[in-house]
Amino acid sequence: MANIVIVGTQWGDEGKGKVVDLLAEFADLVVRFQGGNNAGHTMVVEGKQFISHLIPSGILQNKICLLGNGMVVDPAVLIEEIDYLKSNGIEVGPDNLKISERAHIIMPYHKEIDHARERLKGDKKIGTTGRGIGPSYEDKATRRGIRFVELLDPEVFREKLNSILEEKNFYLEEYLSSNPLDLEDIINQYNEYAKRLSPHVTNISVVINNAIKSGRQVLFEGAQGTHLDIDHGTYPYVTSSNTIAGNACGGAGIGPKEITGVIGIVKAYTTRVGEGPFPAELSDKTGNTIQKKGAEFGATTGRKRRCGWLDTVILRNAVRLNGLTGIAITKLDVLGGLESLKICTGYEYKGKILQDFPAGLNILSKCKPIYETVPGWSENISDIRAIEDLPQNARNYLNRIEELIETPIHLISLGPARDETIMVTNPFE
Ligand code: IMP
Repeated sequence: MANIVIVGTQWGDEGKGKVVDLLAEFADLVVRFQGGNNAGHTMVVEGKQFISHLIPSGILQNKICLLGNGMVVDPAVLIEEIDYLKSNGIEVGPDNLKISERAHIIMPYHKEIDHARERLKGDKKIGTTGRGIGPSYEDKATRRGIRFVELLDPEVFREKLNSILEEKNFYLEEYLSSNPLDLEDIINQYNEYAKRLSPHVTNISVVINNAIKSGRQVLFEGAQGTHLDIDHGTYPYVTSSNTIAGNACGGAGIGPKEITGVIGIVKAYTTRVGEGPFPAELSDKTGNTIQKKGAEFGATTGRKRRCGWLDTVILRNAVRLNGLTGIAITKLDVLGGLESLKICTGYEYKGKILQDFPAGLNILSKCKPIYETVPGWSENISDIRAIEDLPQNARNYLNRIEELIETPIHLISLGPARDETIMVTNPFE
Protein backbone atom coordinates (compact mmCIF):
# COMPACT_ATOMS: atom_id res chain seq x y z
CA MET A 1 0.00 0.00 0.00
CA ALA A 2 1.38 3.42 -0.94
CA ASN A 3 0.28 6.98 -0.15
CA ILE A 4 2.27 9.47 -2.15
CA VAL A 5 2.64 13.25 -1.89
CA ILE A 6 3.48 15.24 -5.00
CA VAL A 7 5.02 18.68 -4.59
CA GLY A 8 6.66 21.28 -6.80
CA THR A 9 10.35 21.78 -6.06
CA GLN A 10 10.84 25.19 -7.68
CA TRP A 11 8.47 28.20 -7.88
CA GLY A 12 5.41 26.34 -9.13
CA ASP A 13 4.39 25.47 -12.70
CA GLU A 14 6.69 22.45 -12.76
CA GLY A 15 4.09 20.36 -14.58
CA LYS A 16 2.57 18.72 -11.49
CA GLY A 17 -0.81 18.39 -13.25
CA LYS A 18 0.45 15.89 -15.81
CA VAL A 19 2.30 13.79 -13.23
CA VAL A 20 -0.72 13.80 -10.90
CA ASP A 21 -2.88 12.76 -13.82
CA LEU A 22 -0.52 9.89 -14.68
CA LEU A 23 -0.11 8.63 -11.13
CA ALA A 24 -3.80 9.09 -10.26
CA GLU A 25 -4.39 5.90 -12.24
CA PHE A 26 -2.75 3.96 -9.40
CA ALA A 27 -4.54 5.83 -6.58
CA ASP A 28 -8.10 5.55 -5.27
CA LEU A 29 -8.27 9.06 -3.80
CA VAL A 30 -6.65 12.31 -4.93
CA VAL A 31 -6.43 15.08 -2.33
CA ARG A 32 -5.52 18.77 -2.62
CA PHE A 33 -4.23 20.02 0.72
CA GLN A 34 -3.43 23.73 0.31
CA GLY A 35 -3.84 26.79 -1.88
CA GLY A 36 -6.87 27.65 -3.94
CA ASN A 37 -7.62 28.79 -7.46
CA ASN A 38 -4.22 30.47 -7.70
CA ALA A 39 -3.11 27.07 -9.06
CA GLY A 40 -3.98 25.90 -12.51
CA HIS A 41 -3.40 22.85 -14.60
CA THR A 42 -4.55 21.87 -18.00
CA MET A 43 -6.85 18.88 -18.39
CA VAL A 44 -8.10 17.52 -21.68
CA VAL A 45 -11.85 16.86 -21.64
CA GLU A 46 -13.28 15.18 -24.74
CA GLY A 47 -10.34 16.47 -26.79
CA LYS A 48 -10.90 20.02 -25.49
CA GLN A 49 -8.43 21.73 -23.20
CA PHE A 50 -9.75 22.86 -19.83
CA ILE A 51 -7.77 24.60 -17.14
CA SER A 52 -8.76 23.39 -13.72
CA HIS A 53 -7.89 25.49 -10.68
CA LEU A 54 -9.46 23.53 -7.84
CA ILE A 55 -10.60 20.05 -8.84
CA PRO A 56 -7.76 17.53 -9.15
CA SER A 57 -7.44 15.99 -12.61
CA GLY A 58 -8.13 12.58 -10.99
CA ILE A 59 -11.81 13.43 -11.58
CA LEU A 60 -11.34 12.43 -15.24
CA GLN A 61 -10.35 8.93 -14.14
CA ASN A 62 -13.34 8.71 -11.84
CA LYS A 63 -11.19 8.81 -8.73
CA ILE A 64 -12.51 10.27 -5.48
CA CYS A 65 -11.22 13.86 -5.40
CA LEU A 66 -11.05 15.77 -2.15
CA LEU A 67 -10.47 19.42 -1.34
CA GLY A 68 -8.65 19.58 1.99
CA ASN A 69 -9.14 21.74 5.06
CA GLY A 70 -5.83 23.45 4.21
CA MET A 71 -7.38 25.00 1.11
CA VAL A 72 -9.12 28.31 0.53
CA VAL A 73 -11.97 27.76 -1.89
CA ASP A 74 -13.79 30.23 -4.11
CA PRO A 75 -17.23 28.59 -4.36
CA ALA A 76 -18.12 30.35 -7.62
CA VAL A 77 -15.02 28.96 -9.32
CA LEU A 78 -15.67 25.49 -7.95
CA ILE A 79 -19.27 25.50 -9.22
CA GLU A 80 -18.07 26.69 -12.62
CA GLU A 81 -15.58 23.81 -12.79
CA ILE A 82 -18.21 21.27 -11.75
CA ASP A 83 -20.64 22.59 -14.37
CA TYR A 84 -17.99 22.55 -17.09
CA LEU A 85 -17.05 18.95 -16.36
CA LYS A 86 -20.71 17.85 -16.19
CA SER A 87 -21.54 19.58 -19.47
CA ASN A 88 -18.73 17.54 -21.01
CA GLY A 89 -20.14 14.26 -19.79
CA ILE A 90 -17.87 13.84 -16.75
CA GLU A 91 -19.72 12.57 -13.70
CA VAL A 92 -19.24 14.87 -10.72
CA GLY A 93 -21.27 14.24 -7.59
CA PRO A 94 -20.96 13.97 -3.82
CA ASP A 95 -19.48 10.48 -4.22
CA ASN A 96 -16.46 11.56 -6.22
CA LEU A 97 -15.98 15.20 -5.18
CA LYS A 98 -15.73 15.96 -1.47
CA ILE A 99 -14.95 19.26 0.23
CA SER A 100 -13.66 19.61 3.75
CA GLU A 101 -16.14 21.25 6.10
CA ARG A 102 -13.11 23.05 7.56
CA ALA A 103 -11.82 24.52 4.30
CA HIS A 104 -12.00 28.31 4.25
CA ILE A 105 -14.16 30.25 1.82
CA ILE A 106 -12.84 33.01 -0.41
CA MET A 107 -15.20 35.97 -0.06
CA PRO A 108 -15.67 38.93 -2.45
CA TYR A 109 -13.74 41.25 -0.08
CA HIS A 110 -10.72 38.95 -0.21
CA LYS A 111 -10.46 39.46 -3.94
CA GLU A 112 -11.09 43.21 -3.66
CA ILE A 113 -8.39 43.56 -1.01
CA ASP A 114 -5.89 41.44 -2.98
CA HIS A 115 -6.30 43.65 -6.07
CA ALA A 116 -6.38 46.96 -4.24
CA ARG A 117 -3.27 46.18 -2.19
CA GLU A 118 -1.28 45.18 -5.25
CA ARG A 119 -2.41 48.39 -6.97
CA LEU A 120 -1.25 50.48 -4.02
CA LYS A 121 2.10 48.72 -3.76
CA GLY A 122 3.07 49.75 -7.31
CA ASP A 123 6.51 48.38 -8.20
CA LYS A 124 6.77 46.74 -4.77
CA LYS A 125 3.86 44.44 -5.58
CA ILE A 126 4.10 40.68 -4.96
CA GLY A 127 2.58 39.86 -8.32
CA THR A 128 -0.21 37.78 -6.77
CA THR A 129 -2.74 35.97 -8.90
CA GLY A 130 -5.42 38.35 -7.60
CA ARG A 131 -7.68 35.51 -6.48
CA GLY A 132 -7.95 36.63 -2.85
CA ILE A 133 -5.67 33.87 -1.58
CA GLY A 134 -3.52 35.94 0.82
CA PRO A 135 -6.40 37.91 2.41
CA SER A 136 -8.32 34.68 2.93
CA TYR A 137 -5.44 32.90 4.70
CA GLU A 138 -4.91 36.11 6.67
CA ASP A 139 -8.49 35.89 7.99
CA LYS A 140 -7.98 32.20 8.79
CA ALA A 141 -4.95 33.06 10.94
CA THR A 142 -6.68 35.94 12.70
CA ARG A 143 -9.79 33.79 13.27
CA ARG A 144 -12.09 35.92 11.14
CA GLY A 145 -12.40 33.36 8.36
CA ILE A 146 -15.59 31.65 7.24
CA ARG A 147 -15.41 27.92 6.65
CA PHE A 148 -17.78 25.64 4.74
CA VAL A 149 -19.30 24.48 8.02
CA GLU A 150 -20.36 28.09 8.75
CA LEU A 151 -21.46 28.77 5.19
CA LEU A 152 -23.88 25.86 5.38
CA ASP A 153 -25.68 27.33 8.41
CA PRO A 154 -27.52 30.45 7.09
CA GLU A 155 -27.93 32.03 10.53
CA VAL A 156 -24.33 31.56 11.57
CA PHE A 157 -23.19 32.76 8.15
CA ARG A 158 -25.26 35.96 8.36
CA GLU A 159 -24.09 36.72 11.85
CA LYS A 160 -20.41 36.16 11.06
CA LEU A 161 -20.51 38.05 7.79
CA ASN A 162 -22.37 40.96 9.35
CA SER A 163 -19.64 41.55 11.90
CA ILE A 164 -16.76 40.92 9.50
CA LEU A 165 -18.12 43.05 6.67
CA GLU A 166 -18.32 46.19 8.77
CA GLU A 167 -14.59 46.08 9.32
CA LYS A 168 -13.80 45.02 5.74
CA ASN A 169 -15.87 47.84 4.27
CA PHE A 170 -14.15 50.35 6.50
CA TYR A 171 -10.76 49.07 5.35
CA LEU A 172 -11.82 48.95 1.69
CA GLU A 173 -13.24 52.46 1.67
CA GLU A 174 -11.00 54.36 4.05
CA TYR A 175 -7.65 52.76 3.42
CA LEU A 176 -7.77 51.13 -0.02
CA SER A 177 -10.09 53.71 -1.65
CA SER A 178 -12.26 50.90 -3.01
CA ASN A 179 -16.02 50.48 -3.04
CA PRO A 180 -17.81 48.93 -0.05
CA LEU A 181 -19.67 45.63 -0.50
CA ASP A 182 -23.34 44.99 0.24
CA LEU A 183 -24.23 42.48 2.97
CA GLU A 184 -27.50 41.25 1.42
CA ASP A 185 -25.96 40.82 -2.02
CA ILE A 186 -23.23 38.59 -0.59
CA ILE A 187 -25.67 36.63 1.56
CA ASN A 188 -27.98 35.93 -1.38
CA GLN A 189 -25.12 34.89 -3.62
CA TYR A 190 -23.38 32.70 -1.03
CA ASN A 191 -26.61 31.04 0.12
CA GLU A 192 -27.02 29.83 -3.45
CA TYR A 193 -23.44 28.49 -3.44
CA ALA A 194 -24.14 26.75 -0.14
CA LYS A 195 -27.19 24.99 -1.60
CA ARG A 196 -25.20 23.77 -4.58
CA LEU A 197 -22.14 22.62 -2.68
CA SER A 198 -23.63 21.28 0.58
CA PRO A 199 -23.95 17.65 -0.62
CA HIS A 200 -20.17 17.62 -1.21
CA VAL A 201 -19.17 18.98 2.19
CA THR A 202 -17.94 16.44 4.72
CA ASN A 203 -15.21 15.50 7.20
CA ILE A 204 -12.50 14.54 4.73
CA SER A 205 -10.05 13.52 7.44
CA VAL A 206 -12.43 10.67 8.31
CA VAL A 207 -12.93 9.76 4.64
CA ILE A 208 -9.19 9.62 3.94
CA ASN A 209 -8.22 7.78 7.10
CA ASN A 210 -10.97 5.18 6.57
CA ALA A 211 -9.82 4.71 3.00
CA ILE A 212 -6.22 4.19 4.12
CA LYS A 213 -7.35 1.71 6.79
CA SER A 214 -9.17 -0.32 4.19
CA GLY A 215 -6.04 -0.53 2.03
CA ARG A 216 -6.85 2.12 -0.55
CA GLN A 217 -4.07 4.28 -1.99
CA VAL A 218 -4.01 8.06 -1.78
CA LEU A 219 -2.28 10.69 -3.87
CA PHE A 220 -1.79 14.07 -2.19
CA GLU A 221 -1.46 16.85 -4.75
CA GLY A 222 0.45 19.97 -3.72
CA ALA A 223 -0.03 23.29 -5.48
CA GLN A 224 2.51 26.05 -6.22
CA GLY A 225 6.08 25.05 -5.30
CA THR A 226 8.54 24.70 -2.43
CA HIS A 227 10.01 28.17 -2.95
CA LEU A 228 6.57 29.76 -2.76
CA ASP A 229 6.07 28.22 0.70
CA ILE A 230 5.09 30.84 3.30
CA ASP A 231 7.83 29.68 5.71
CA HIS A 232 10.55 28.33 3.47
CA GLY A 233 10.12 30.29 0.25
CA THR A 234 11.43 33.66 -0.90
CA TYR A 235 9.34 35.57 1.64
CA PRO A 236 7.47 37.90 1.09
CA TYR A 237 7.37 36.86 -2.59
CA VAL A 238 5.54 33.67 -1.73
CA THR A 239 2.01 32.37 -1.55
CA SER A 240 0.18 32.32 1.79
CA SER A 241 0.21 28.62 2.59
CA ASN A 242 2.72 25.88 3.36
CA THR A 243 3.34 24.19 0.03
CA ILE A 244 5.79 21.58 1.31
CA ALA A 245 4.98 17.90 1.79
CA GLY A 246 4.60 18.13 5.58
CA ASN A 247 1.45 20.15 5.05
CA ALA A 248 -0.23 17.21 3.32
CA CYS A 249 -0.83 16.01 6.89
CA GLY A 250 -2.11 19.30 8.32
CA GLY A 251 -4.07 20.23 5.22
CA ALA A 252 -5.85 16.90 4.85
CA GLY A 253 -6.09 15.65 8.43
CA ILE A 254 -3.82 12.60 8.38
CA GLY A 255 -0.81 11.56 10.43
CA PRO A 256 2.74 11.62 8.99
CA LYS A 257 3.19 7.86 9.30
CA GLU A 258 0.60 7.31 6.55
CA ILE A 259 2.85 8.89 3.90
CA THR A 260 5.02 6.36 2.13
CA GLY A 261 6.71 8.49 -0.51
CA VAL A 262 7.22 12.09 -1.60
CA ILE A 263 7.81 12.92 -5.25
CA GLY A 264 9.22 16.31 -6.16
CA ILE A 265 8.41 17.65 -9.60
CA VAL A 266 11.45 19.25 -11.22
CA LYS A 267 11.13 21.19 -14.45
CA ALA A 268 14.32 20.55 -16.49
CA TYR A 269 15.01 24.30 -16.20
CA THR A 270 13.65 26.92 -13.80
CA THR A 271 10.70 29.31 -14.17
CA ARG A 272 8.98 31.83 -11.97
CA VAL A 273 5.87 34.01 -12.35
CA GLY A 274 5.39 37.16 -10.35
CA GLU A 275 8.07 39.14 -8.59
CA GLY A 276 10.95 38.06 -6.37
CA PRO A 277 14.60 37.06 -6.69
CA PHE A 278 15.63 34.29 -9.07
CA PRO A 279 19.43 33.75 -9.15
CA ALA A 280 19.63 31.50 -12.23
CA GLU A 281 17.31 33.74 -14.30
CA LEU A 282 18.22 34.22 -17.97
CA SER A 283 17.42 37.67 -19.31
CA ASP A 284 18.90 36.91 -22.73
CA LYS A 285 18.13 35.13 -26.00
CA THR A 286 18.41 31.67 -24.43
CA GLY A 287 15.83 32.66 -21.79
CA ASN A 288 13.49 33.83 -24.56
CA THR A 289 14.02 30.64 -26.54
CA ILE A 290 13.14 28.49 -23.53
CA GLN A 291 10.12 30.72 -22.72
CA LYS A 292 8.77 30.33 -26.27
CA LYS A 293 9.61 26.67 -26.78
CA GLY A 294 8.28 25.73 -23.35
CA ALA A 295 5.15 27.92 -23.86
CA GLU A 296 5.88 29.38 -20.46
CA PHE A 297 2.75 31.37 -19.71
CA GLY A 298 0.95 31.17 -16.32
CA ALA A 299 -2.13 28.90 -16.51
CA THR A 300 -4.03 31.14 -14.09
CA THR A 301 -3.08 34.66 -15.13
CA GLY A 302 -1.59 34.16 -18.60
CA ARG A 303 1.53 36.09 -17.53
CA LYS A 304 4.86 35.28 -19.21
CA ARG A 305 7.00 33.15 -16.92
CA ARG A 306 10.57 34.21 -16.25
CA CYS A 307 12.99 31.45 -17.34
CA GLY A 308 16.43 30.34 -16.20
CA TRP A 309 18.83 27.39 -15.94
CA LEU A 310 18.24 24.48 -13.62
CA ASP A 311 19.22 25.47 -10.10
CA THR A 312 20.35 22.61 -7.87
CA VAL A 313 20.72 24.89 -4.83
CA ILE A 314 16.95 25.23 -4.73
CA LEU A 315 16.51 21.56 -5.61
CA ARG A 316 18.68 20.43 -2.69
CA ASN A 317 16.62 22.74 -0.50
CA ALA A 318 13.46 21.06 -1.80
CA VAL A 319 14.89 17.57 -1.21
CA ARG A 320 15.54 18.40 2.45
CA LEU A 321 12.38 20.40 3.16
CA ASN A 322 10.04 17.83 1.63
CA GLY A 323 11.97 14.66 2.42
CA LEU A 324 11.82 13.76 -1.26
CA THR A 325 12.08 10.05 -1.99
CA GLY A 326 12.21 10.62 -5.74
CA ILE A 327 11.77 13.21 -8.45
CA ALA A 328 9.94 13.52 -11.75
CA ILE A 329 11.69 15.58 -14.42
CA THR A 330 9.35 17.46 -16.73
CA LYS A 331 9.76 19.31 -20.03
CA LEU A 332 13.13 17.75 -20.83
CA ASP A 333 12.19 18.00 -24.53
CA VAL A 334 12.19 21.82 -24.30
CA LEU A 335 15.97 21.87 -23.79
CA GLY A 336 16.62 20.01 -27.07
CA GLY A 337 18.52 22.04 -29.68
CA LEU A 338 20.63 24.05 -27.24
CA GLU A 339 24.34 23.57 -27.85
CA SER A 340 25.18 23.47 -24.17
CA LEU A 341 23.26 23.64 -20.91
CA LYS A 342 24.19 25.14 -17.59
CA ILE A 343 23.42 23.74 -14.19
CA CYS A 344 23.64 26.05 -11.17
CA THR A 345 25.51 24.16 -8.43
CA GLY A 346 26.01 26.90 -5.83
CA TYR A 347 25.77 30.65 -5.22
CA GLU A 348 28.60 33.08 -4.75
CA TYR A 349 27.97 35.83 -2.23
CA LYS A 350 30.65 38.36 -1.31
CA GLY A 351 33.43 36.01 -2.43
CA LYS A 352 32.05 33.07 -0.45
CA ILE A 353 30.31 30.02 -1.84
CA LEU A 354 26.86 29.34 -0.40
CA GLN A 355 25.66 25.77 -0.70
CA ASP A 356 22.38 26.42 1.10
CA PHE A 357 19.54 28.66 0.12
CA PRO A 358 19.72 31.94 2.10
CA ALA A 359 16.69 33.31 3.97
CA GLY A 360 17.39 37.02 3.45
CA LEU A 361 16.26 38.50 0.16
CA ASN A 362 19.04 41.06 0.38
CA ILE A 363 21.53 38.22 0.25
CA LEU A 364 19.64 36.15 -2.31
CA SER A 365 19.27 39.04 -4.73
CA LYS A 366 23.05 39.55 -4.66
CA CYS A 367 23.92 35.87 -5.11
CA LYS A 368 25.71 35.02 -8.33
CA PRO A 369 25.02 31.54 -9.66
CA ILE A 370 27.98 29.18 -10.06
CA TYR A 371 27.48 27.14 -13.21
CA GLU A 372 28.65 23.85 -14.53
CA THR A 373 28.33 23.57 -18.32
CA VAL A 374 27.29 20.33 -19.99
CA PRO A 375 26.81 19.56 -23.70
CA GLY A 376 23.25 19.66 -25.07
CA TRP A 377 21.51 17.43 -27.64
CA SER A 378 19.81 18.22 -30.92
CA GLU A 379 17.62 15.13 -31.41
CA ASN A 380 13.85 15.30 -30.90
CA ILE A 381 13.27 13.13 -27.83
CA SER A 382 9.48 13.31 -27.50
CA ASP A 383 8.92 9.84 -29.00
CA ILE A 384 11.43 8.08 -26.78
CA ARG A 385 9.92 5.71 -24.22
CA ALA A 386 13.00 4.15 -22.55
CA ILE A 387 15.74 5.97 -20.70
CA GLU A 388 18.43 3.94 -22.53
CA ASP A 389 17.18 5.36 -25.85
CA LEU A 390 17.73 9.00 -24.87
CA PRO A 391 20.72 10.73 -26.49
CA GLN A 392 23.83 10.23 -24.35
CA ASN A 393 24.03 13.96 -23.52
CA ALA A 394 20.45 13.97 -22.24
CA ARG A 395 21.25 10.93 -20.08
CA ASN A 396 24.35 12.66 -18.79
CA TYR A 397 22.26 15.72 -17.88
CA LEU A 398 19.82 13.53 -15.93
CA ASN A 399 22.58 11.55 -14.22
CA ARG A 400 24.27 14.77 -13.15
CA ILE A 401 21.02 16.07 -11.62
CA GLU A 402 20.56 12.82 -9.67
CA GLU A 403 24.15 13.05 -8.47
CA LEU A 404 23.96 16.69 -7.42
CA ILE A 405 20.73 16.35 -5.48
CA GLU A 406 21.25 12.75 -4.34
CA THR A 407 17.71 11.73 -5.27
CA PRO A 408 16.57 9.19 -7.88
CA ILE A 409 14.42 9.95 -10.91
CA HIS A 410 11.08 8.10 -11.01
CA LEU A 411 9.69 9.59 -14.14
CA ILE A 412 10.69 11.75 -17.13
CA SER A 413 8.15 13.78 -19.07
CA LEU A 414 8.97 14.57 -22.69
CA GLY A 415 5.83 16.39 -23.80
CA PRO A 416 2.33 17.30 -22.63
CA ALA A 417 0.61 14.06 -23.73
CA ARG A 418 0.19 11.21 -21.25
CA ASP A 419 2.25 8.81 -23.33
CA GLU A 420 5.12 11.25 -23.79
CA THR A 421 6.63 9.87 -20.61
CA ILE A 422 9.36 7.50 -19.46
CA MET A 423 8.34 5.78 -16.22
CA VAL A 424 11.61 4.70 -14.64
CA THR A 425 10.02 3.36 -11.43
CA ASN A 426 6.39 3.70 -10.37
CA PRO A 427 6.22 5.07 -6.80
CA PHE A 428 2.90 3.24 -6.27
CA GLU A 429 4.42 -0.16 -7.05
P1 IMP B 1 -0.96 34.35 -4.56
O1 IMP B 1 -0.81 32.90 -4.27
O2 IMP B 1 -2.03 34.67 -5.57
O3 IMP B 1 -1.09 35.17 -3.31
O4 IMP B 1 0.41 34.86 -5.25
C1 IMP B 1 1.63 34.93 -4.55
C2 IMP B 1 2.80 34.53 -5.44
O5 IMP B 1 2.71 33.12 -5.75
C3 IMP B 1 2.85 35.25 -6.78
O6 IMP B 1 4.20 35.41 -7.17
C4 IMP B 1 2.20 34.25 -7.73
O7 IMP B 1 2.61 34.44 -9.07
C5 IMP B 1 2.70 32.94 -7.16
N1 IMP B 1 1.83 31.81 -7.45
C6 IMP B 1 0.66 31.51 -6.86
N2 IMP B 1 0.14 30.37 -7.39
C7 IMP B 1 1.01 29.94 -8.29
C8 IMP B 1 1.06 28.79 -9.14
O8 IMP B 1 0.19 27.92 -9.14
N3 IMP B 1 2.15 28.70 -9.96
C9 IMP B 1 3.15 29.61 -9.94
N4 IMP B 1 3.15 30.70 -9.17
C10 IMP B 1 2.10 30.86 -8.34
